[in-house]
Amino acid sequence: MAERKIETGIKDLKEKLWRAKHIAVLTGAGISAESGVPTFRGEGGLWKQFRAVDLATPEAFSRDPKLVWEFYNWRRELISTLSPNPGHFALAEIERRIPRFTLITQNIDGLHKKAGSRNIIELHGNLWLVRCTGCETVREDMRVPIPELPMCESCGSLLRPHVVWFGEMLDPLVLNSAYEAIAGCDLMMVIGTSGTVQPAASMGVQAKRNGAAVAEINLEPTPYSDLYNISICGKSGEILPQLL
Ligand code: APR
Repeated sequence: MAERKIETGIKDLKEKLWRAKHIAVLTGAGISAESGVPTFRGEGGLWKQFRAVDLATPEAFSRDPKLVWEFYNWRRELISTLSPNPGHFALAEIERRIPRFTLITQNIDGLHKKAGSRNIIELHGNLWLVRCTGCETVREDMRVPIPELPMCESCGSLLRPHVVWFGEMLDPLVLNSAYEAIAGCDLMMVIGTSGTVQPAASMGVQAKRNGAAVAEINLEPTPYSDLYNISICGKSGEILPQLL
């Protein structure tokens, strides 16, 4: 029975997908799970081994920047060894075939870009970018590890990861471009996100309100599953390639 539901969901989504003129996709940690990136919540959640809530905050960074950089170096080390999975690649292929395609991601791992996706909006920043706490300059920095307390080449102030920490605002320009895509799309896919962190959590509902069809792909139901047009329970790395 469950399998038949998955099959019907894929068939329905496929029909909508290849008719769509503008697709918006929202991804979360689940899309990278099959690459080996730990998710934040659920089985194997990052928080079970590390109290990320205590480390990914501006307060933690001002209290102990060395510890926070140690944590990010651990994540850099892990992610630098990982590759995109078939789910990432399928999204890059869909982008090649659809006139307008916007990929909004909460992930900071950079795996969508590695898979060939181009029009990416990174809501929570990027693990491979650093920002100066003095002059605000943002630079790519692929070093693994980064020196314990990295300093800005221009002004000598301390560098921090260019990611959005708990309690921080999202960049309004980044957020606006996500809302533009959501307002203009005729299909939105919400993939591998638990829907617990705002504002991303309500983006699917907003797209639906604007008249788009919304499809969710997740390992398990989420609080939003019943509100969407299609909800497919399964691994994104297995479901997404079946849409091609
Ligand atoms: N395929 C599809 N979905 C999956 C898979 C998979 N292979 N593996 C796990 N999932 C689902 C889980 O069922 C869960 O609903 O992915 C979701 C991951 O949820 P979270 O770990 O909460 O990740 P996310 O929604 O991206 O978290 C949002 O919270 O901690 C902050 O800033 C962090 O960007 C993150 C944000």
